[in-house]
Amino acid sequence: MTQIAVLPGDGIGPEVTAAAVRVLDAAHPGLTFVEAPIGANAIVSHGEPMPAETVRICSESAAILFGAVGGPGHDDLEPHLRPEAAILGLRKHFNLYANVRPARVFPGMESRSPLKAELVRGMDLVFVRELTGGLYFGEKTLTHEHGHEVARDVLIYQDDEIERAVRFAFALAHMRRKHLTSVDKNNVLMSSQLWRRVVIDVAQDYPDVTLEHMLVDNAAMQLVRDPRAFDVIVTENMFGDILSDEAAMITGTIGTASSAALCGAPDANGFGLYEPISGTAPDIAGKKLANPIGAILSAAMLARYSLGDEAAAAAIERAVAETLVAGPRTRDLDRDGGASTDAVADAILARISVVAA
Ligand code: IPM
Ligand code: MG
Repeated sequence: MTQIAVLPGDGIGPEVTAAAVRVLDAAHPGLTFVEAPIGANAIVSHGEPMPAETVRICSESAAILFGAVGGPGHDDLEPHLRPEAAILGLRKHFNLYANVRPARVFPGMESRSPLKAELVRGMDLVFVRELTGGLYFGEKTLTHEHGHEVARDVLIYQDDEIERAVRFAFALAHMRRKHLTSVDKNNVLMSSQLWRRVVIDVAQDYPDVTLEHMLVDNAAMQLVRDPRAFDVIVTENMFGDILSDEAAMITGTIGTASSAALCGAPDANGFGLYEPISGTAPDIAGKKLANPIGAILSAAMLARYSLGDEAAAAAIERAVAETLVAGPRTRDLDRDGGASTDAVADAILARISVVAA
């Protein structure tokens, strides 16, 4: 039996993850789901954000379905003790270096975008964010020097770390519209100069993919000017964190944004961690107001990338697209009403027609 580790975490994590489990179970019957603590709740129950027991359960599973981590009251803790250390720790522990973050506007959702509808109609891009290097994982220090406090976060990249993420992105672009934009800050950063050289090298192996380099500040601008000009965007960890939130918002809500963190080629059907990118949303946590679609589309990515079940992934995505048009919708998409998390999940479930294996 294929086991899936379910790590609901904090804030809205448990609500949206429960919805995603129900949908995945319907689209791909026969999975075993094992739940484990992570994040702020694990600090309470186990005294640490990423308990060893949780890591063990994950390593025995085919994939991780992850909710969100974080919460008030941890701001003064050192980075490695904060709830967020759990997600960073899992990414590093399982070497999940390729973070796939799609940003697409579903038909009928154009008017929800903060941009003009005609600018976003048909928008369908995907980020490949390098996920286990850069500023996030370089040495961090806080020292006292010459009577001042000095904070350092080291931005470090090794060529092979760049290469594997970039190869993943080229492979993905090859499977899509064959257009890759590499985002860097080559005019200022040494790490970006290395990044760009590696990208140019790897491009030799993908002659049918059109490659473009773009500076990160310009990329932030071009995303709001003409988001449909992009197909696949590959970038380092920090730039990818920021730009993928921007792109998600352009689709109208971050509540439908899904992600996969992988460690092999896009068609390898290996281990992965799947999470909505919306975070814990503490203001609405526990109220059943959160949009479950980001988590549900993450479950679809799990079916596609870890289970190799394209039919289940497509069935979930179709059910989501239909539900977005027909409703019900949570309040991030429906200002006048706003259905509950469970009502949206129920509607999606009802639209999944399982083709018996
Ligand atoms: C994300 C989140 C995380 C990140 C946080 C929670 C550490 O913002 O997945 O985008 O910065 O990677
Ligand atoms: Mg983020």
